[in-house]
Amino acid sequence: MAATPWLLLLCLSLAAGGAEPGILTWASSAPGVLQARAQPDSNGFISIDCGLQGEEGYVDTATKLSYYPDTGFTDGAGTCRNISADYIMPSLCKCLYTVRSFPAGAENCYTLRSLVPGLKYLIRAKFMYGNYDALRRPPVFDLHIGVNHWHTVNISKPHVEKSVEAILLVPDDFVQVCLINTGAGTPFMSSLELRPLKKTIYPQVTAAQGLLLSERINFGQIDENNVIRYPDDTHDRIWTPVVSSGTYTGVSTTSKVIPDSLFEVPTAVMQTAMKPRNVSSGISLSWDPEPQPNNPSPGYIIIMHFSELEFLLFNVTR
Ligand SMILES: *[C@@H]1O[C@H](CO)[C@@H](O)[C@H](O)[C@H]1NC(C)=O
Ligand SMILES: *[C@@H]1O[C@H](CO)[C@@H](O)[C@H](O)[C@H]1NC(C)=O
Ligand SMILES: *[C@@H]1O[C@H](CO)[C@@H](O)[C@H](O)[C@H]1NC(C)=O
Repeated sequence: MAATPWLLLLCLSLAAGGAEPGILTWASSAPGVLQARAQPDSNGFISIDCGLQGEEGYVDTATKLSYYPDTGFTDGAGTCRNISADYIMPSLCKCLYTVRSFPAGAENCYTLRSLVPGLKYLIRAKFMYGNYDALRRPPVFDLHIGVNHWHTVNISKPHVEKSVEAILLVPDDFVQVCLINTGAGTPFMSSLELRPLKKTIYPQVTAAQGLLLSERINFGQIDENNVIRYPDDTHDRIWTPVVSSGTYTGVSTTSKVIPDSLFEVPTAVMQTAMKPRNVSSGISLSWDPEPQPNNPSPGYIIIMHFSELEFLLFNVTR
């Protein structure tokens, strides 16, 4: 696979108007017991809990997706470690309780198999140091997808959960995610997820160019903890809630919002929106560029999603 240039993606959902507020809740289920397997599930999803010991997986309470140990995905290198109990909170995803660390070797890879060549995939890796090695020194290391530099993982604090995400066209029936030791500590990983996308969505993604996620925001949420992902988002994109305050106010509807076919933003995301309190003012958005050592001046694309949530008079447009 040749080196792929990355564009950074800012994904925002905006809308206008409002009706009654609606809150989405997730049901939870008792954890199940699943056998380890290195195959995509019936959705084509691969969900790996790195460093999980034993052969058995479990069902994640929030998404009801099955997570599996990483034994079938690595070449056997690395060691399973638990994060320190000091960092295990009720709200913490179980997928972050353990890590696989790679004290030996300059490069260690995970191989995700049984993919469809030429299809677009979302790949997400999560890292939480949690002082698993009792050194109180989070490492800095590089992450590659195939031969492409993906991200320099640099987690400043043990409690910080770092998630990195890419959308790319995978040319083969497998893809490798590799951790590169750059001499600044032992690389580790907490969780690795792969989600297939349709060929038609994210037209910016081609064989020659991938997207790296900067932010994916769901405006107008009333509950700052209401993260929307699978099953509301069939592709399991994670939408970070932002509650309106100050010069903005939230609006929402309980009516179904038909998703557009290019991005398939879930109804639950499009049902909430923000608008300025003062109808004469606009909405102003900003972000800080995140230069990487190999990409000192990254290019960004911003995708905004709008839906009209209010019934407007026949002679009014917005
Ligand atoms: C991690 O924690 C689990 C459950 O508490 C325990 O069974 C296991 O032995 C621990 N693993 C290590 C490497 O300490
Ligand atoms: C990691 O981040 C810290 C601050 O967040 C910075 O000072 C340091 O230079 C970074 N390390 C590397 C190797 O990029
Ligand atoms: C609303 O914004 C307009 C234009 O910026 C300004 O002239 C007006 O004073 C604002 N109204 C209120 C109530 O703040």
